[in-house]
Amino acid sequence: MISAKLFQKKLFDWYHSNPRDLPWIGETNLYRIWVSEIMLQQTRAETVIPFYKKFIEEVPDIDALAKLSDQKLMQLWQGLGFYRRAQNLKAAAQDIVNHHNSRFPLHYHEIIRLKGIGHYTAAAIASFGYSLAYAAVDGNVYRILSRMFMMDRAFTSLTDQQFYRDLAQSLLDPKNPGLFNQAMMNLGASVCTPKSPNCEICPFNAYCLSYHRGSVSVYPPQKIKISLKKRFFHFILLQNSKGALAIEQRKAKDIWNQLYQLPMVETGKKSPKEAELAKLFTKKYPDLSLKSLQLINSSDQKLSHQHIQAFFYLGFLEPSHTKICKAFHYVLPKNLKNFAFPNIIVVFCREYVNSKTE
Ligand code: ADE
Repeated sequence: MISAKLFQKKLFDWYHSNPRDLPWIGETNLYRIWVSEIMLQQTRAETVIPFYKKFIEEVPDIDALAKLSDQKLMQLWQGLGFYRRAQNLKAAAQDIVNHHNSRFPLHYHEIIRLKGIGHYTAAAIASFGYSLAYAAVDGNVYRILSRMFMMDRAFTSLTDQQFYRDLAQSLLDPKNPGLFNQAMMNLGASVCTPKSPNCEICPFNAYCLSYHRGSVSVYPPQKIKISLKKRFFHFILLQNSKGALAIEQRKAKDIWNQLYQLPMVETGKKSPKEAELAKLFTKKYPDLSLKSLQLINSSDQKLSHQHIQAFFYLGFLEPSHTKICKAFHYVLPKNLKNFAFPNIIVVFCREYVNSKTE
């Protein structure tokens, strides 16, 4: 088995000759490191870069984040997905302002207590920001270790996760933990990739057990595929006499909490009859009298546990309908950009609303 010293040497040599230009690499400001790591939790680095730059520009420090309006926060996060991350980030900023004198906590056990931070993110922040010797193990690092040592364990149970953290910790260079963690992340993202890993150029190919046995493709062990829950969302495009569109904020404990949407009902089946749908709208919005609905578009989006199928309709109101429905805000198409919407609605509005209603 490769020694820790040799592992570190091979890793660092590879890292220095394969630099990755990411704006958070080498960052020393704890707030910035924290924001980047939260954004990177479920999102690829290339996607995160523009969101990160804009966020840091508009919300430069912990105090500014603690005071940020939810609407602005959601606008800045729109398109990144997993919106709970943003809500936790702000809650943690308020916690830091109130209980840590606006200073990012210094110790691992305090960092991991912040909302939205688990072992991986705490280790990443502690090692990058304070050079604390904690190995950060996410799916990328787990993949490297599982292949290198032909480990059949998955990364699902807490015991298995601890096992991989211990293994990574035994390889970590305690004098350069941030460098070690960043190099492992880079290797997992660019060489030891989930599909078609580039073993020929891997610094560890002489030591990787699964490479030698020709079994890289069976490591790490396959995850049991969970079947995604199917959900059918029906949105209506309603305009008032001034051309403003009805939107509402999602407030339930569900996906996209706090984001805005077009008036919507959910059904258990894919294509309900129009009359059935109109009835559901009236039930949900009693002061809305719909005459008819015309299907104009559909799209879908897969989330981590759900498959959302969205249908978009033009809504025609009864001529007697003069009241403005209380549940809605009415917003001119050009002002939709001031509200944060789920991607599925952003795409629809970009394609349909902006071209057809202005
Ligand atoms: N994924 C999580 N943290 C990362 C980092 N610091 N650099 C690149 N990818 C990451």
